[in-house]
Amino acid sequence: MHLTHYLDDITVWAPAKVNLFLEVLGKRPDGYHDIATLMVAIRLYDTLIFRKANELTLTCSDQSLSVGSDNLVLKAARLLQQRTGCKQGASIRLIKRIPMAAGLAGGSTDAAATLAGLNQLWGLKLSNAELASMSGAIGSDIPFFFHAPAAWCTGRGEIVAPANLPIPLDFVLLCPSFGISTPAVYQNVTLPAQPITGEAIREALSKADVDSIAKLLHNRLEDAAAKVEPRIGDFAKMLADTKPAGSLMSGSGSTLFALCQSHEDATRVAAELAPQMKAHKFRVIITRTE
Ligand code: C5P
Repeated sequence: MHLTHYLDDITVWAPAKVNLFLEVLGKRPDGYHDIATLMVAIRLYDTLIFRKANELTLTCSDQSLSVGSDNLVLKAARLLQQRTGCKQGASIRLIKRIPMAAGLAGGSTDAAATLAGLNQLWGLKLSNAELASMSGAIGSDIPFFFHAPAAWCTGRGEIVAPANLPIPLDFVLLCPSFGISTPAVYQNVTLPAQPITGEAIREALSKADVDSIAKLLHNRLEDAAAKVEPRIGDFAKMLADTKPAGSLMSGSGSTLFALCQSHEDATRVAAELAPQMKAHKFRVIITRTE
C-alpha cells in the first residue's frame, strides 16, 4: 500500500493479492474456517483519494459497486470513528481496477487503504499494528495488507506473520467475467483428512526457488469453487495448457493465475491466451509481486 499527500488530498494505492498456498484446516464454531495461507501482494491497484469533509461520503468509478453502508470502505471508516471517537468526516473517491468477487481481495485492500488513509487525514497517529488488529473485525483478509508484500496468514486469515520475498514473482492473471461468492465456496469445501503443511512452499519462497514454488502451489478451495462454478475447471485447464511454471486459483476464485519464470514467459503465456479471450469473456493481466 503506497500513500502520498498532495495539497488537500491523500491518495492511497491499494494492491491486490494472490494466494500461493491455501489449506483449510477445519470448520469453527463461529461458522468460519481455520485456514493457513501464503499471500503475496501484486502490482494491480485500486486508488482511493481522501479529502476532509463534514460528512463521510463515497463515490466509485464502477457503478455496479454499492456505495452504501455495506461497502467495506465505509465500514472501515465507521470502524475507525468508533474505535477512536473521531468525529471528522471525509469525501472518499474509489477508482476500481481490481476485479470484484475474484479472489484478489479487492474489497479488503480498499478497507485497509481506508484505515491507512483516514488515519493520516484525521491525524490519529495509530500504528500499522493497531490498524491491522482492528481491521480483522470487518474482514479476514484485511490485516494482511498492513504486512504486505508477503505473509503467512492463519486463523480466519487475520493472524499475519510477514514472510521474506527475496525476488519478484511474475504472474499472468486470467480473470473470468463472473465472480464467485466466498461463503458458497467455503460451504462446498471438503475438509482434508490430513491437511498439507505450507512448510515446503514457505522454504521455497525464502530460497527464491521458483520451480519448487510452482510445484508446491496449492489451494484447497479450487475444487469447491469448480463445484459452485464448473467453468473454473475449464479455465484452469486452459491456463495450465500454456505450460507456465505453475498455475492455481487465487483465494475463493474466480481468478486463476499462472506463476511464470520471468516477465518474458508471462508475456508468452498472455499471448497464448489472447485468442481465446473474446469467446470465453475473460481478461488477462500480466503482473508481478510488489
Ligand atoms: O472474512 P470475510 O468477510 O472475508 O469472509 C467472508 C465469508 O467467507 C465468511 O462469512 C465465511 O462464510 C467465509 N470464510 C470462511 N472462513 C474463512 C474466511 C471466510 O468460512 N477463514
